[in-house]
This record gives sequence, structure tokens and C-alpha cells, in this order.
Amino acid sequence: MLSLDRSDARAASSSLLIRPAVGDAVAGDGSGEDDEAFVVQLASRAFRFYGTYDAFVRDWLHDSRVTTWIAEDSGARAGFFMVTIYPDPERETVQVADLVAIAVEPDRQSGGIGQKLLTAALSVSEQRGAVEMWLVVAEGNARAQRFFARNGFRLGPGVGVYPGGQTARRMLRPLRVDPTTPRPSGIGKSSKEVG
Ligand SMILES: CC(C)(COP(=O)(O)OP(=O)(O)OC[C@H]1O[C@@H](n2cnc3c(N)ncnc32)[C@H](O)[C@@H]1OP(=O)(O)O)[C@@H](O)C(=O)NCCC(=O)NCCS
Repeated sequence: MLSLDRSDARAASSSLLIRPAVGDAVAGDGSGEDDEAFVVQLASRAFRFYGTYDAFVRDWLHDSRVTTWIAEDSGARAGFFMVTIYPDPERETVQVADLVAIAVEPDRQSGGIGQKLLTAALSVSEQRGAVEMWLVVAEGNARAQRFFARNGFRLGPGVGVYPGGQTARRMLRPLRVDPTTPRPSGIGKSSKEVG
């Protein structure tokens, strides 16, 4: 079996850029169409096992409370994440970050792009004052669970069933928050999640 190292061709290059999706939450000017097409087609492949999510993903892309970030490796789109921040329903004064989706192009996985995306998602959420990050992962998605566990997430309770029939499990981890960070208001909402 081949072992990969950081020099592997698939490894995230030093020119990896993580940027907000163009046109995110901005309707009408057409500038975000390429990013939208990329996110929708990658999500549809990455999450097809769990059901059909095209409509949800499009809704999230146009929801101003959900921010979408794209990983571009040497100018080519290679992955994305979507995050939204909202008050914890059980602790109204506490903001939580909900990582609604994260995915890397299958032929670019295991090269560190997912790690860079997740690090960026954590950082964006901390900057916005969230004290915890939540996500939902399929019970059988062992690889993703390992990836998140390595990043400090612990498994929480079952939170429902995917359209594809798999049990959905919550994973969560605390965030480091600068107490001087002003809390944004009115952003984010709880939403259906994938993966
Ligand atoms: C989960 C996911 C986002 C991770 O992305 P990724 O780019 O593969 O993540 P990384 O490369 O940072 O790390 C993944 C693995 O590669 C290894 N790795 C990373 N960079 C490496 C490198 N340069 N050389 C060797 N191994 C490396 C990591 O140790 C890790 O090992 P694992 O297979 O035991 O988990 C990706 O697998 C994915 O898109 N999955 C489908 C969608 C999904 O399940 N999303 C999560 C639920 S929303």
C-alpha cells in the first residue's frame, strides 16, 4: 500500500486559498454562479448516500445567515464548508456555530484540504463569538467521525434519521472565544444538515 506524505501530488499546495463564496447571499448579479454550481455538484456527489440535498444546498447558498467558503487549490475549486451561527435554544445568551456541510472533491481527499477547511470554519466561528461548534454526521461515516474526533469533537446523541435512512449523530466541541469579541446579532438559524 502506498503511503502518502506531504509531498504527494494530492497534498494541499501552498497556494491553497480559502475564501468566501462569491455572491454568497447576494442574489441576482450572476457573479456567484460558478461557486454555486461547484458547491451544488460536489454536495450532490459527496452526500448522495444520505439522500438528495440539492434543494437544501441551494437554499443555504442563498440564505444570508449561512456563510459558504470555498477552498481553491492552485486556482481550482477543491472543497467547501457552510456554517451558520445562532443562539443555543437551551442557553439563549450563548451563540453556537453549526457546520451544516463540509466536503472535499473525492480525488483531492486525504491531502489536508479538509483539515484546512475545518480550521478555517473553527476560526470564522470563534471570530463571530460562537462558544461551541456543532455538526451532524451519519453513524456509519466512520472516516468523517475520525476526522472530527481528531479535531476535538466528541459524539453526542442521535438527532434523527437521514432521508437515506442512516442515523444522524451530533458531534460538538467547545471553541476558544475572546471575551472582548462583540457578539453579532441576528445571524444564523438552525437548519437541516448533511453528512
Ligand atoms: C471529511 C472530509 C471533508 C475530509 O477531507 P480531507 O481533505 O480528506 O481531509 P484531510 O486530508 O485533512 O484528512 C483526511 C485524512 O487524510 C490524512 N492526511 C491528510 N493530509 C495528508 C497527507 N498530506 N498525507 C497523508 N495523509 C494525509 C489524514 O490523516 C486523514 O486520515 P483519515 O483517513 O484517517 O481520516 C472528506 O473526506 C469528505 O469530503 N468526505 C465526504 C463528505 C463528508 O462526509 N463530510 C462530513 C460530514 S458533513
